[in-house]
Amino acid sequence: MRNPHIHTELPGPQARAMLARDRAVSSPSYPRDYPFVMSHGRGTEVWDVDGNRYLDFVAGIAVCSTGHAHPQVVQAVKDAADRFLHISSDFWHEHFTGLGERLAAIAPMGEPAMSFLCQSGTESVEGALKLARYVTGRPRFLGFLGGFHGRTMGALSFTSSKYTQQKGFAPTMPGVTHVPYPNTYRPLFAGTDQGRAVLDYIRTLFERNVPPTEVAAILVEPIQGEGGYLVPPAGFLAGLRALCDEHGILLIFDEVQSGVGRTGKMFACEHWGVRPDIVTSAKGLGSGLPIGAVIAKRRLMEQWQRGAHGNTFGGNPLSCAAANATLDLVRGQYAANAAAVGEHFIGRLRELAGAYPCIGEVRGKGLMIGMELIEADAERTPARALCERLVTRAFYNGLLLLSCGVSTVRFMPPLCVTGGEVDEAVELLRGSLEEALQGAGR
Ligand SMILES: Cc1ncc(COP(=O)(O)O)c(C=O)c1O
Repeated sequence: MRNPHIHTELPGPQARAMLARDRAVSSPSYPRDYPFVMSHGRGTEVWDVDGNRYLDFVAGIAVCSTGHAHPQVVQAVKDAADRFLHISSDFWHEHFTGLGERLAAIAPMGEPAMSFLCQSGTESVEGALKLARYVTGRPRFLGFLGGFHGRTMGALSFTSSKYTQQKGFAPTMPGVTHVPYPNTYRPLFAGTDQGRAVLDYIRTLFERNVPPTEVAAILVEPIQGEGGYLVPPAGFLAGLRALCDEHGILLIFDEVQSGVGRTGKMFACEHWGVRPDIVTSAKGLGSGLPIGAVIAKRRLMEQWQRGAHGNTFGGNPLSCAAANATLDLVRGQYAANAAAVGEHFIGRLRELAGAYPCIGEVRGKGLMIGMELIEADAERTPARALCERLVTRAFYNGLLLLSCGVSTVRFMPPLCVTGGEVDEAVELLRGSLEEALQGAGR
């Protein structure tokens, strides 16, 4: 297909030159799928160094929540930079405390909350794990197969969405037991209620293998992200809450990907009205500036002694200023936009699924949407190669996408995306799918 916004062959000459320089000096471990070399962006649109324009339905992996270069966020960062670039979390400043107040106002605990600020998702998970061990005095944890929580050693012990993430790094932190995440499209257990089946599985584990009195916390993504954009069945998160309450276990929701308005609510857990003890946040929180937060019930976090946990860069003024502007925008308009445009988007993708049997399922909430590709056989065999070809073809046609799970394309555009941009993306997707089905790749 021909997109009038793509003027050069891809990658273009400037991009090719950059890729050649980069190959010599950058780690090959980055999981880069296709050669997009960015020049600049506005809202949902991005341009490469050769002047080609794309629709960005990746948003820096669910990070650019307010779109690229939102003027209010950029101004807040500029104003902060004019005053000072750094002071460290050993001291106080307005943006730091202002962010703590905003996070306390949106915390989904249903009771007073406090925050610990850091720079990334994986650090927010580390902080949550340390807090859980500290306040319970218990050593063990439960995590979920297919989960992704980051790549530092503590978080990595839980991460299990792809084989390559742990390979070569063992032993990771001991004491973590993985259990299946309920998957209604690919049921692992007999019966129709996969959520209840997983809860029964955990109960059996608690009777036979893992003493619940030794478990500090259960760490779970309210919607599983890297593992395939899986939405849990009704009652599952509430069931986990009840199990935790029964055994004095803390419930940690990792909302690094699903939080900050992405699903149409500030936190995804609000869709089910289930209240965690601790929530992790990062990605969309700073619209692109590095920031993460451990948000916990105040009665838990206030138990941390002075010096129990700390850092140098946490609460950096530029990141906090960006986060404050982001939260004001997301609460003001973009969470509602994510809900409304997300519904339209899911509808358009389901129409497409009606025409293409290789689209097995379209699922998600708000603008956290997955489209699982299959071989269109009775076994619903995951169409891994087709998925890879589709993501690649979409790039060549001017649409940035990423995959997750085994064969799921995920859509995570900025929360300011318009219905018109979604319609344009769906047409690019349709053309790319046609090409991918005919075997085209690069
Ligand atoms: C749910 C979840 N937790 C944690 C992380 C790790 O975040 P970061 O890459 O900022 O360390 C991610 C990143 O994809 C994530 O999706």
